[in-house]
Amino acid sequence: MPIKFSRSDFPKGFIFGTATAAYQIEGSSNGYCGPSHWDTFSATPKNVFNAENGSKACDHFHRFEEDLDLVQACGFDAYRFSTSWARVMPDGQTINKEGLEFYDRLVDAICARNLRPNLTLYHWDLPSALADIGGWTNRETANRFVDHTNAVIQCIGDRIDTVATINEPWCIAWLSYFLGHHAPGLRDIRAAARAMHHVLLAHGLSVDAMRSLGISNIGVVLNLTEAHPASDKPSDIIAKDRLDGIHNRWFLDAIFKGVYPEDILKKLYEFMPKNFENDMSLISASIDWLGINYYTRGIVADDPGEPWPSLKDIEGPMDKTQMGWEIYPEGLKNLLVRVSKNYTGNLPLLVTENGMACADTMENQKVYDPGRIDYISSHLTAALAAIDEGVNLQGFFYWSLLDNFEWAFGYEKRFGLVHVDFETQKRTPKASFDEWTLSLNS
Ligand code: FCB
Repeated sequence: MPIKFSRSDFPKGFIFGTATAAYQIEGSSNGYCGPSHWDTFSATPKNVFNAENGSKACDHFHRFEEDLDLVQACGFDAYRFSTSWARVMPDGQTINKEGLEFYDRLVDAICARNLRPNLTLYHWDLPSALADIGGWTNRETANRFVDHTNAVIQCIGDRIDTVATINEPWCIAWLSYFLGHHAPGLRDIRAAARAMHHVLLAHGLSVDAMRSLGISNIGVVLNLTEAHPASDKPSDIIAKDRLDGIHNRWFLDAIFKGVYPEDILKKLYEFMPKNFENDMSLISASIDWLGINYYTRGIVADDPGEPWPSLKDIEGPMDKTQMGWEIYPEGLKNLLVRVSKNYTGNLPLLVTENGMACADTMENQKVYDPGRIDYISSHLTAALAAIDEGVNLQGFFYWSLLDNFEWAFGYEKRFGLVHVDFETQKRTPKASFDEWTLSLNS
């Protein structure tokens, strides 16, 4: 089944792109990259599927020209990538010339293919030296992020089309310091509350630093979920509001209204860093666009036997991806409409990630992935429906260009439009890649 849309179905100038992230593809053993908390998290038993890590990944550090040829051949307009903080500053403070030179070559190669570079300054590779001082629980990490911002922007800012400070603050703070699924794998509410603030402070400080350097088109990327109650019971409905508050409103209210949502703050207040209120105007300084990553919805029930937030995840009834994530495209439309109505107004929105992991298999040198093609079609339908309702959505990025290191899931979960054989590093475009090519060229 083909992707249902062509370019002409979208507004003129709508940007189609594909996204990657440094740690997931570059190979952290290449180019004098310093250790990051993902290296040590992966080196600790039971954290990552099959004890895998990002040391080789897709060897993109050496193969980026070939990979960018694929982005161009597919017909995309833009390429979203991130700079590894541990590569740029291996000890968290000294600049690694070779690291910056890599990004310099990378951006030149993106521009040479007439692709618009969409940079993310932080997609999770925190230098271990900063993990040693408490990572995102320590305010100093937010201050140091300004050094990373300045180093990267002074090197490649002149050629960047669009820049995001942080990818998915909820994952950086809650998933990593409260739920413990990502590096550093902590499960501690005080650490989480501090991380929930410091990651936003880092965003605000970085925006400020970039404005001083004359950079425009600055944004941030949030992973939002549509929260649903497991039943009509009042306790489940209130539980749904708690999920929404922690996952969505915490970040949206802070960035667009300069406050934290009262219901959640009431519970986190005692753990928050002192005088956090003084940072709110910096955190809510104006930005030029908002990126939304969307994969699935969240269904929760009240779990009264557990401490706050007393949430229990419930499996939904719809088909699931290889990640076990329910396929729920309506959630994308609803979120885009809600965010634009309640927070962003006419500010440009981008879907900065959307995609599907499938248990792909190679047949006759090809991967046939009709499930992924359907997923893309249904989410583009949702994006178009949001545009029809007046949402100023200006672009859509497929996650991901390549099969890659899917964090705690290692290499098993494949999101790529291009299959990667991790033994030989051979790239093979999948059927979904061919479908994108057809729709982007029609
Ligand atoms: C997002 C991450 C991205 C990738 C996708 C599947 O949360 O930003 O790196 O892992 O999920």
